[in-house]
Amino acid sequence: MNKLSPQLRQPVQPKDWTAGIERPQTLLDHVVEDPDPLVDLSHRPVVSARQFDRAKTMQLCRLAALYETTPALIQLPLTGKILISAFYEPSTRTRLSFESAWHRLGGDVMSITDPASTGIAKGESLEDVAEMFNNYGDLVVLRDSSNEAVYEMLEALRIPIINGGNGTDEHPTQALTDLYALFKWRPDLMGEQVPEERKVRMGIIGVPNRMRTVRSLLLFLSLFAPAFKEVVIISESDTNFDDGQREELEEAGLKLRVTPKLDTELPELDVIYINSIAWVGDSYVKLGERLRLSADSALKDGAIILHPLARGEELATDLDQTEHNWYFAQARGAVFIRMALLTTLTQRIHQVMDTPE
Ligand code: CP
Repeated sequence: MNKLSPQLRQPVQPKDWTAGIERPQTLLDHVVEDPDPLVDLSHRPVVSARQFDRAKTMQLCRLAALYETTPALIQLPLTGKILISAFYEPSTRTRLSFESAWHRLGGDVMSITDPASTGIAKGESLEDVAEMFNNYGDLVVLRDSSNEAVYEMLEALRIPIINGGNGTDEHPTQALTDLYALFKWRPDLMGEQVPEERKVRMGIIGVPNRMRTVRSLLLFLSLFAPAFKEVVIISESDTNFDDGQREELEEAGLKLRVTPKLDTELPELDVIYINSIAWVGDSYVKLGERLRLSADSALKDGAIILHPLARGEELATDLDQTEHNWYFAQARGAVFIRMALLTTLTQRIHQVMDTPE
């Protein structure tokens, strides 16, 4: 008797459709190429969303869209270069999309997924590890559950480091991924002025002072404040902002409101960003688990859902086959936005953009 399951008797089927994956050309057509903001990022560390401005963000999104629409453009600009991928916390998307991006650009990768397999287990300082990284690689991506580790390594590094998530502090390249998805959906939101009727209302189901993804995202959104009627923080937490965090965002022009009521907000939201996991110490905590989305939720027609993933019960899988699912396109885009960033930091943009040498 043939015991093969039906899935094993046929080739892997392409997915019929994922909302949003056809959009990078729209973004590409919307942004005029300008290499100067990216030249300015060459050979710099990337630790905080605060290091970016509108022009850098837009040009990175444009270059990502160029990579996504034109795979033939990739001339392996990182051949001979080595990425040190140091992830001292679990990761699916950040580690694999960075490594995929580096490989796609022609480079080689050394991966550390457990600090106990390095001299850190013998008490070696992060500064000493960083000194070794200078000799062995050309760029480091670090994820660490400590807010400070990336700053400690920065002291001793002479190669760029990218913060792949530091404790509850920041995750700037996740926020770039979020913006890349948002601007593929609506490139006009990048405008310095956005007409009132084109502005969007965005809901963030998450806790800004406990989730690094949300903290970095809000900083990036504040660069594009004219795009938003308001940003509604939907949270059941007693405290949502660190001292000065909300003020900084509002001073940059972002209109913020906080509410615990998801159901009353949902029908008015054009974009919903949802996350419930915060990494604290050596494990994660779930925040706002009761705030959930499913295909039965009262979502506005055409509203998009973003999620940094991994998901829990807050995001039902019955949304996956709906037009609201932009979270898979968002995760796919992570490779292209990271390719754009890596090309920039390694001073290789002259291979893909018209720049003065
Ligand atoms: N979005 C994100 O940081 O996912 P990972 O934890 O899988 O890297």
